[in-house]
Amino acid sequence: MLKTRAEAFAPASIANLGVGFDILGLALDGAGDVVEAEWRDDGQIVIAEIRGDEGKLSHDPQKNIVGIAAQALLGQLHSKRGVTLRLKKGLPLSSGLGGSAASAVAAVMAVNGLLEKPLAREDLLAAALEGEAAVSGYHADNVAPSLFGGIILANGITIDRIHRLPVPSDLHLALVTPNVEVPTAQARAVLPSTVPLRQLVRQTGAVADLVDAIHCGDVVRMARAMEADEVIEPARAHLMPYIDEVRHEAKLNGALALVIGGAGPTLCAVCQRWDIAESVALAMRRVYDRHGLACQMRHTTVSAQGAQLLTTHL
Ligand code: HSE
Repeated sequence: MLKTRAEAFAPASIANLGVGFDILGLALDGAGDVVEAEWRDDGQIVIAEIRGDEGKLSHDPQKNIVGIAAQALLGQLHSKRGVTLRLKKGLPLSSGLGGSAASAVAAVMAVNGLLEKPLAREDLLAAALEGEAAVSGYHADNVAPSLFGGIILANGITIDRIHRLPVPSDLHLALVTPNVEVPTAQARAVLPSTVPLRQLVRQTGAVADLVDAIHCGDVVRMARAMEADEVIEPARAHLMPYIDEVRHEAKLNGALALVIGGAGPTLCAVCQRWDIAESVALAMRRVYDRHGLACQMRHTTVSAQGAQLLTTHL
């Protein structure tokens, strides 16, 4: 039966996992974005409300990720109907927590929830990617984990290139997000356009090592491989306030590795126990406290679930 209103949640995600630039990502348990969708008969896409963005996001459906993603899904369905969308941002903007991907994924999940015969989750990937692409280009390392949950190898943007990897049982993450925005476009603009062959060999070796360690459930080896990034982090580190100090404190408190979350500025420490992740998160926050920079911290695990339809109304 056709629904009138549906609400969906999509989780935060950490892209890259250090060396896996644009191809690896994981969904985080806890925070995320929520989108409510409601049919309208005039064929328009209307963004009626955005909360939690401090007024920074455009309500223009051609410019806002949720509008673009919803439009892409309705286009895919050859639907003439429109939707009213309401977005609740649970994730800070330009923070490296996959906020734009979460918005796009929540939008397509919500619109899908309105359908008489909802599409399979796999069929929502392309429309969600359209939304994300408006902000950071076509790569699925945030969208795919947010949609499907777990740890994802996204070696392309079509469903046949998306592979779910096993989640090591003792993988815990401590995250700290300083109160500065690092737009993805800016963090991509500083990257080198070429890398020397020897560096390429080491970088691809580290990616292979990381994927193998994930399959073996070996968090220690996973952490070492993640941190072996010679290409992306060195180019971006200057955009991440106090990254060296935060890494030092994280490791003093038991973290195995620290990487930039996506395009930053969130920093993500890899830990083997919940209590260690908790004390690492606190230690990382103290660094920003010392420098008078506000931040948010959390410690969490990988979300196995991905996006969820929360409610529907007939
Ligand atoms: N892989 C992307 C990047 C994630 O690091 O630029 C952010 O969109």
